[in-house]
Amino acid sequence: SQAPQLFTPLAIRDVTLRNRIVVSPMCQYSCRDGLANDWHLVHLGSRAAGGAGLVFVEATAVMPEGRISPADLGLWSDAHTAGLAPVAAFIRRLGAVPGIQLAHAGRKASCRPPWEGRSKIRPSEEGGWSCQAPSPLPFAPDEPAPQALDAAGIEAVKAAFVQAARRAVAAGFAVVELHAAHGYLLHQFLSPLSNVRDDAYGGDLPGRMRLALETASTIREVIPGGMPLFTRISATDWMPGGWDLEQSVALARELAARGVDLIDVSSGGLVPDAVIPAAPGYQVPFAAAVRERVGVATSAVGLITEPAQAEAVIASGQADLVQLGRAMLHDPYWALHAAQTLGAQPDWPLPYGYAFHRR
Ligand code: FNR
Repeated sequence: SQAPQLFTPLAIRDVTLRNRIVVSPMCQYSCRDGLANDWHLVHLGSRAAGGAGLVFVEATAVMPEGRISPADLGLWSDAHTAGLAPVAAFIRRLGAVPGIQLAHAGRKASCRPPWEGRSKIRPSEEGGWSCQAPSPLPFAPDEPAPQALDAAGIEAVKAAFVQAARRAVAAGFAVVELHAAHGYLLHQFLSPLSNVRDDAYGGDLPGRMRLALETASTIREVIPGGMPLFTRISATDWMPGGWDLEQSVALARELAARGVDLIDVSSGGLVPDAVIPAAPGYQVPFAAAVRERVGVATSAVGLITEPAQAEAVIASGQADLVQLGRAMLHDPYWALHAAQTLGAQPDWPLPYGYAFHRR
């Protein structure tokens, strides 16, 4: 049998990933004031020790109002940079590439953490704030309407993304991902279901894409030329009249033209009542379509759990990377166990690897 493709390195600009396995960004809702702490070091460090090629830090808010919950990670001050620097350094020391996802939750901000029910914290309540969005349309009907961002507000959001990207570089991250998926602010601008603006940032597809494209362009300008820039998109809202694969292909083309190196293809999250046919690998065809039609690198994500399944995604050319979320929570050593399963040489951290071979 052939050597598994899952364990072939991938070079993007000046960064080489040791394999095609990515720890997908996953909110930990474990911060105070947006600052990283020992949880992030151990959680992400464990997955770097576990053999992944690229380890993403969770959605990291570029401004306080952009947090999903008060316990989200942030990167809006130099103290946040200092908190994340040891995390990036530790991931790197373990042979993985440290990446960070930059985010703004828009109308989905100011919520309780999932284990406290995810409900909206209203501005009048302790810990809550008023949400900003393209248009005054709430995510769920029982929520207060968000404030529509004015021109100055849009400039402030762009500036915050760019400043956070600078801080990500300063903190030692080697890959930056722009979060334009899952119904958060940039996705809210993209979808006609959440963006009914009549200015330059709404209306037709170029208008709705404007904020995501301008943000990607300015981030590309401030990060080093050798540093990969990814963007996560939702390929579809799973809702008639919403964002869909055709628009995603157009967006991916424009992002690639502005120096985005890889499109991380997820789906959903814009509206609460979408019916999503979740099943093993259900979003892989979207990653394959974007890769094929645009000629840009993609990553596939969503219910990829089995080594042979991940191998097939890479070997068939449906995507350049696989991103795993919950499987990595179950097993931080997923990549090393997959190497064993697929007959590749698992590269255990030295203090473990020697012990398995000693007699
Ligand atoms: C997520 N997901 C997610 N996605 C993202 O883009 N940014 C984030 O911060 C988070 N946070 C998050 C937290 C937790 C606990 C889970 C389980 C998921 C989505 C995640 O990255 C991934 O796309 C999905 O979980 C689907 O992949 P799996 O879990 O089926 O492998």
